[in-house]
Amino acid sequence: MVLTSQNIIVINMIKSRMKRIGVLTSGGDGAGMNAAIRSVVRSALLQGAEVRGVMRGFYGLVEDDIISLNHRSVANIISRGGTFLKTSRCPEFQTRAGMAKAVATLKRHEIDGLVVIGGNGSYAGAYELFKRFRFPVVGVPGTIDNDLYGTDQTIGCHTAVNTALDAIDKIRDTAHSMERIFVIEVMGRDSGYIAMQVALGSGAEDVIIPERKFNYQAMYEEIKRGHKKGKISWMIIVAEGAGKAHEVAEKVTKVTGFESRYIVLGHIQRGGTPTAPDRVLATRLGAAAVDCLLKGRYGKAVGILQNKINVVDLQQACATSNVPINEYCRLIKNLI
Ligand code: F6P
Repeated sequence: MVLTSQNIIVINMIKSRMKRIGVLTSGGDGAGMNAAIRSVVRSALLQGAEVRGVMRGFYGLVEDDIISLNHRSVANIISRGGTFLKTSRCPEFQTRAGMAKAVATLKRHEIDGLVVIGGNGSYAGAYELFKRFRFPVVGVPGTIDNDLYGTDQTIGCHTAVNTALDAIDKIRDTAHSMERIFVIEVMGRDSGYIAMQVALGSGAEDVIIPERKFNYQAMYEEIKRGHKKGKISWMIIVAEGAGKAHEVAEKVTKVTGFESRYIVLGHIQRGGTPTAPDRVLATRLGAAAVDCLLKGRYGKAVGILQNKINVVDLQQACATSNVPINEYCRLIKNLI
C-alpha cells in the first residue's frame, strides 16, 4: 500500500491514545501566540483529537476555566497579536496544592495531553507536571526573550525586535538632530537578546546586557573622545535586567557633562501584529507539538534549528542565552 499523508494521519489516530488535547498560553504574551494556538487546534482536529483551551495559562487549570475549541474558534486569529486564550503568571500553580488542583482539572475534563506555549517559567511549570504526575506535556517556545534552548527563535521575538527597532530609529532622528545622548531600555530581565539585536540593527554605540559585565568607565571615556572629534549623538541600549535607563543616563550626564535623555520602551514591545517569520514559526511549532503528543513523545519542547523541527527534553529547554555576544559586541564597536 502506498502511504499518502492522509493514510499516515489515520494510522497516527489509531495508534494514539490521545483523544483530547489541551492548549494554554502562559507568562508574557508574544505576537504569534494566536497563530500557534490556531495551528495546535487545527492540527489536532485533523488527526481526530478534540481540543480544549485553558484560559489565562496555568491559572485556568488551577481555577478550572476551560473552553471547547473547534475549527471556527481559531478563525481569523493568525494575524492578531496577544493571545485570545489570555495569559498570566500563576504563583499558585507552583505550590503543591495548586498543582494538585491543576491535575484534577485536567482529569475532570478528560484532557490526555497538554501543549504549553510560553517561556522559561512556563516550561518549568510544564516540566513539573510531567515529572511529578507523568502528565503528557509538550512545550512550544513563546516568549519575546529568545532565551530557550533547542530553538533558534522563540515566538514573538522577531516582532518585538522590529517594534523596538522602529522606535529606536525614530529616537535616532532626534538624537542626531539635537546632538544628544540617548539611553534606551528594552525588555529582557535575564536575556540580552532583544538588546543585542536592536543595538546591531540600529547602529547603536553601546549595549548593556545581563550576560556580560559592562565597562562604564570605558564608555564615558569613549563618549568624551568622540565629542572632541565632533561626534555628539550617542545611542546606548540597555536590557532591563542589566540596568535602569534613567540611572545610566544620569550617570552619563554627570561624568561626561553632556546632555542625555532616557526612554523605556516597555510593553509596546510585546503586542502588535505578528511579523511573517513569527506567524510561520508559530504555525510550524504548533503542528510539531501536536505531532509529539500523538506520537507519545512527552516531556519535550519543540523548536526550529537550521530551519528544521527540533525536539529536546523540556527540562533542558528551560533556559539558555542565544546571544552571540562576542561577535555582536565586536561589530558594534568596529562599526561606530
Ligand atoms: O518574559 C518576557 C518579558 O517581556 C521579559 O522580557 C520582561 O522582563 C517580563 O516579561 C515583564 O513581565 P511583566 O509583563 O509581567 O511585567
